[in-house]
Amino acid sequence: MDEKKRYEDIIRILDEYSYEYYVMDNPTVEDAEYDKLMQELLQLEAKHPDWVTNESPSQRVGGEVLEGFEKVEHKIPMLSLANAFNEQDLLDFDRRVREKVGEDREYMCELKIDGLAVSLEYENGHYKRGATRGDGSVGEDITANLRTIRSIPMKLKEPFSIEVRGEAYMPKRSFVKLNEKREEDGLPEFANPRNAAAGSLRQLDTKIAASRNLDIFLYAVADFGEMGVLRHSDGLDKLGELGLRTNKERRVCKTMDEVFAYIEEWTQKRESLDYDIDGIVIKLNDLAQQEEMGARIKTPRWSIAYKFPAEEAETKLEKIELNVGRTGVVTPTAVLDPVQLAGTTVSRASLHNEDLIHEKDIRVGDTVVVKKAGDIIPEVIRSIPEKRTGNEVTFHMPETCPACGSELVRLEEEVALRCINPKCPAQIKEGLIHFVSRNAMNIDGLGEKVVVQLFSHQLIHDVADLYFLSREKLLELERMGEKSVSNLLQSIENSKSNSLERLLFGLGIRHVGEKAARTLALKFETMDALRAADKETLTETADIGEKMADSLVTYFENEEVHALLSELERAGVNMTYTGPRREDIPEEDLVFAGKTVVLTGKLEQMTRNDAKALIEKLGGNVSGSVSKKTDVVVAGSDAGSKLTKAEELGIPVWSELDLMEYLPDEGEI
Ligand code: IVH
Repeated sequence: MDEKKRYEDIIRILDEYSYEYYVMDNPTVEDAEYDKLMQELLQLEAKHPDWVTNESPSQRVGGEVLEGFEKVEHKIPMLSLANAFNEQDLLDFDRRVREKVGEDREYMCELKIDGLAVSLEYENGHYKRGATRGDGSVGEDITANLRTIRSIPMKLKEPFSIEVRGEAYMPKRSFVKLNEKREEDGLPEFANPRNAAAGSLRQLDTKIAASRNLDIFLYAVADFGEMGVLRHSDGLDKLGELGLRTNKERRVCKTMDEVFAYIEEWTQKRESLDYDIDGIVIKLNDLAQQEEMGARIKTPRWSIAYKFPAEEAETKLEKIELNVGRTGVVTPTAVLDPVQLAGTTVSRASLHNEDLIHEKDIRVGDTVVVKKAGDIIPEVIRSIPEKRTGNEVTFHMPETCPACGSELVRLEEEVALRCINPKCPAQIKEGLIHFVSRNAMNIDGLGEKVVVQLFSHQLIHDVADLYFLSREKLLELERMGEKSVSNLLQSIENSKSNSLERLLFGLGIRHVGEKAARTLALKFETMDALRAADKETLTETADIGEKMADSLVTYFENEEVHALLSELERAGVNMTYTGPRREDIPEEDLVFAGKTVVLTGKLEQMTRNDAKALIEKLGGNVSGSVSKKTDVVVAGSDAGSKLTKAEELGIPVWSELDLMEYLPDEGEI
């Protein structure tokens, strides 16, 4: 087997998977398949370090630590946009356009992504440099940090030399997770996704940027002319064809009424997006007309940004409540006189921590301004001291835990105060909620309310108790009928067979997130093996750092943890990894090694999932659509267009029986 060829194939396949996953939002393989190939890539790279280039998927995780950011001059300036705040501003804009280019004009309407503008330079299709906008003429070189954004291709699908521009941003989901994590770690939280994205891209340690799950939408080329397109809309389509991520919610509008309808639609729907938008960008579509309009010093005349009205409201801060999180961090929460904000009623808002409350001089009883921080969690942004009556009270964090009364501590370098009593009921309750949650043990029908109910009735004290709940006791609870009790018990029962990573994540071991839990489960396969691992063994694992290794060792040393794990074991909770993995099949038997296989039609002998698992086991990967890149199509009965396409492209077609030949004999797996 030619290792170099295999190495290049893996890169090609991983790049394609990333493209499907991150750009098309249409993954065709399981994460485990990706991880497996990545492991193989890493092994090859360890063996041949001289093969590794910046373009390898392995380089996406960061690692480089920079000393500072070089300056980058934008040969074609990165312009900003003039703002419109109402219909009249937009009508004026349209009038100016019509006066110059005539009535025959159309506009591209796009979402105005609230992130930060960046430029990406490609040379012969290869990613060469990425920069911030800076002042429009000179920005900073953030090539390495941008490389960690998975949707940015390291290689375009055609060898263009172009400079593309777009908005890097942090998805709302990542923002919420990041702040939760920062709160747990006692670090100051980011005020909104834009700040978080900007902060991430300005990190000198590229690993940090890599961990922040940033994303990007490209919306322009420095000079579209070079691409041979005549309209902005065709230019964006072309960017998509090159493998770049563009925002698909764009729309060409022929009249101002259509523009207004688009604005209205997104004013309503913006909350449903997984990223913040702060307005709508309207661009004259015809590139020749754009040229005719020209630009002012900082802004083009052919485009305008409609800005959504600010989402702030004034209300009264009634009191400050304290919440104790799963890791013991005590957070102050503002209880507000309910107020309307961006279409919802807000009665609680985050205050983050005591330092921030004092910095902003926020007192109980104050009139305060609340804002939807990044449309997600409402936040108190300032107080209005002029409206004070003299009865306002300065807030101080208590010295003891509001839930268990034990003394609160401030860990080194942390802003947050923590309760470190492992028996604190508030922490236990949050830990239980985490254990049953969707990404952990995924126990259906056991939401936060039921957990709290079980906990307050003392039916559960730790996670193992869930597996010893009795039907009789459950039936005694309020709102618990025969049916819901049966369903609940069944869900709990089902969760026993979860693969190890869910349990690991669910246990809430400090610093062990979902991804780390999966890495650990894949590597160690059983809880016992993981328990037995020392710090050195743990840190040998890719992605497991010192901090996590220490945390795991400390966790498994704890007597109470031993007791808990024994109880879980006694309950019959699975403690092994049962997810997919490459079997020990000799290389020559991997008939589909590196091959892309498409399944189509109805299979009679096995389920589609079994067929997929079999193909993967034989080294192949299963894709959803037939293209030139497909190596084999397996067609069952009534196969339709995919089969026709395979025949057109001359791709080998297998029958289900052909595939069955490779099924292992009974008892082999
Ligand atoms: S076009 C010459 N399109 O908004 C025109 N900008 O307030 C260059 N932005 O600096 C910008 N989404 O950072 C354009 N779909 C979009 C955008 C967008 C967000 C940002 C961009 C720009 C700022 C202007």
